[in-house]
Amino acid sequence: MAYETIILEHHETVLLIRLNRPEALNAINGKMLKELCSVLEKSSNDVNVRVIVLTGSEKFFAAGADIKEMEKKNSTEMYLDDYFTKEHNVISSFRKPIIAGVSGYALGGGCELAMMCDILIASETAKFGQPEINLGVMAGIGGTQRLPKSVGKYKAMDMHLTGRYMDAQEAERVGLVSRVFPEKDFEIKIIEIAKKISEKSMSSIIAIKESINFSYESNLSSGIIFERRKFHSLFSTEDQKEGMAAFVEKRTPKFSDR
Ligand code: CAA
Repeated sequence: MAYETIILEHHETVLLIRLNRPEALNAINGKMLKELCSVLEKSSNDVNVRVIVLTGSEKFFAAGADIKEMEKKNSTEMYLDDYFTKEHNVISSFRKPIIAGVSGYALGGGCELAMMCDILIASETAKFGQPEINLGVMAGIGGTQRLPKSVGKYKAMDMHLTGRYMDAQEAERVGLVSRVFPEKDFEIKIIEIAKKISEKSMSSIIAIKESINFSYESNLSSGIIFERRKFHSLFSTEDQKEGMAAFVEKRTPKFSDR
């Protein structure tokens, strides 16, 4: 299927999704979100897709939600359209890992989209920001909720209330991104990380993702119980037997997702 706003590239079982609206610095419009969700929905049951990489271009990941698309809407229209809610839920509940590879601007909805992913990796040129305040609005797809969880209340307030940008070094220092790579070969490095994950057992991958995400929404004691149940359940998989046997026999495990 041909898409208008995204480009797909297959790298073995890693699917790279490239946001592609260069004329608007990859501003996220309704069409782009629909296309993104359609790919994720197809990928969820596709055994040939194990890890997703979401990226943009060298100069911009995404410069926010499409301001020109929103400009004339009133609050009733936004409410009745349930603006971006369905899409937010599709992306944030996707079970396989999504790595955001951010080069250049990740602003507003672009920063929020990156934060919906599971691992956030930046190139040295990345710039993160929640500048919605400059438009007389505020973040609307998770920015006031996810940013403080990553960087703490005070840094999040600073970002949202001043609208300033954070560079890659600051983002790594405060825990918004897990790694920073030079611009050269940036995508190759991210695809390598994605391939490394794709070699693991899918039961472990999904259980870890669910368990870490659970920690976002629960207190420590319920999270520990949730994690323990997941951990115990993995002992019914063939991959646990294979993984542990391989360690004892000093060889590389061959996982089968069983
Ligand atoms: N929506 C729609 N179009 C956008 C856009 C956006 N978010 N960001 C950039 N564009 C368009 C510009 O209008 C311009 O189009 P024209 O050539 O037709 O004029 C084109 O992309 C190039 O942009 P600039 O000329 O502005 O490029 P620049 O290099 O001078 O500046 C920038 C880059 C600093 C990122 C600047 O474009 C900018 O500030 N963009 C808006 C950032 C923003 O406010 N994002 C938040 C959006 S609201 C939101 O996301 C709400 C939410 O939480 C859901």
